[in-house]
Amino acid sequence: MTEQKKLFIKTYGCQMNVYDSERMAEAMGAEGYVTTEIAEEADMVLLNTCHIREKAAEKVFSDIGRLRPLKLARPDLKIGVAGCVAQAEGAEILRRMPLVDLVVGPQSYHRLPAMMQAVGQGARPVDTDFPAEDKFDHLPDRPSPLRGPSAFLTVQEGCDKFCAFCVVPYTRGAEVSRPATRILAEARSLVEKGVRDITLLGQNVNAYHSDTGGLAALIHDLAAIDGLERIRYTTSHPNDMDDALIAAHGGCAKLMPYLHLPVQSGADRILKAMNRKHTAEDYLRLVDRIRAARPDILLTSDFIVGFPGETEEDFAATVALIEAVGYGMAYSFKYSARPGTPAAEKPMVEAALADDRLHRLQAILTRQQRQVQEEMVGREVTVLFEKPGRMPGQITGKSEYLHAVHVTADPSLVGTLARVRITGAESNSLSGVVLVSP
Ligand code: 5AD
Ligand code: SF4
Repeated sequence: MTEQKKLFIKTYGCQMNVYDSERMAEAMGAEGYVTTEIAEEADMVLLNTCHIREKAAEKVFSDIGRLRPLKLARPDLKIGVAGCVAQAEGAEILRRMPLVDLVVGPQSYHRLPAMMQAVGQGARPVDTDFPAEDKFDHLPDRPSPLRGPSAFLTVQEGCDKFCAFCVVPYTRGAEVSRPATRILAEARSLVEKGVRDITLLGQNVNAYHSDTGGLAALIHDLAAIDGLERIRYTTSHPNDMDDALIAAHGGCAKLMPYLHLPVQSGADRILKAMNRKHTAEDYLRLVDRIRAARPDILLTSDFIVGFPGETEEDFAATVALIEAVGYGMAYSFKYSARPGTPAAEKPMVEAALADDRLHRLQAILTRQQRQVQEEMVGREVTVLFEKPGRMPGQITGKSEYLHAVHVTADPSLVGTLARVRITGAESNSLSGVVLVSP
């Protein structure tokens, strides 16, 4: 029996990092590590990082700096940097940060246990390969217990779209889909452990393809798994919403009426400069087709303001697109120039102007989100309860539209689905009453 050591993982960025952190914890679990929420008691601290915007990447370096007293007090503490900053910066991290013991990229973390052994022997290993072998074949089977009835499942990684602002094609590499048989096996094993809701993950998930077909075929195969009640997928490119996938939104009852469909801008000039390869009108027609298949679908999106060359007129076109679609929620970001991307060569929009546009856009998006939430009041939804709520006696879960819903109910309902009437809308959640217990 190996000695039990403690692992603290901090996850930055997207859901794929959340998934990768779980898989890394499992890989280290097989080596005798248990996870802890307290950095101070950890034998190993792993930062699973994000490189998408400058702020996110810089935060990692300041967080590493903050670990210094801990490492000074306990020189045995090992510090690892994983994820997209690891991939992008590699050995540079070791040079800049003498505290760091190892650097592992998102495609090589199945080698983490071996790297930790090397650390034990005094090395400072860096692995940012895109190895020929599939990391998923080398990771331990997913153990229980799991955190709750909802899980992420990575089905595709990398991106070939090369949007002019984005580092993902460089940090995560070319598009690769996992074989459907492996995904189905992982999904079945998650369901056996109590999972009811699976979100399929990919940097460009709707480009998924395998021998059996595209994402729609995979969704239909997953829907055949007894006990799996809900399927979602994220994040998608508009140009990969094929007919079969749109039809699945109408025909597959387990595919939830929720879709994150980033558009980034509503101005054709900017979309072209971003290399998005579609117009605003293309996007709006696509939304019409998706809504024809599933009229109640809740749409969410990502927007970038202050992309190089964006004028006030371009910004107004983005606002017009938002008003035309009506989003249930959306993320908006100020453009951040990323090293190595084509847009980073272009002159920036003045920072104060970009800030002002971001605030204006966020106000519009918040108003839309509130409106959609308020329209839910009085409606019946199905909630998958995930955990105890913030208040005593409360439990909380997600509706089919991914709204957080709080109810006063017996904690034994956690892990189950129930019909709920929505009675109130708060800024980021809904409240309701359970109608029938299962
Ligand atoms: N600057 C600002 N936002 C960015 N995103 C990606 N790259 C950048 C960048 N350089 C945003 C996009 C994407 C989301 C995940 O992050 O909106 O959809
Ligand atoms: Fe980045 Fe998404 Fe564009 Fe791919 S599709 S380059 S991940 S923004």
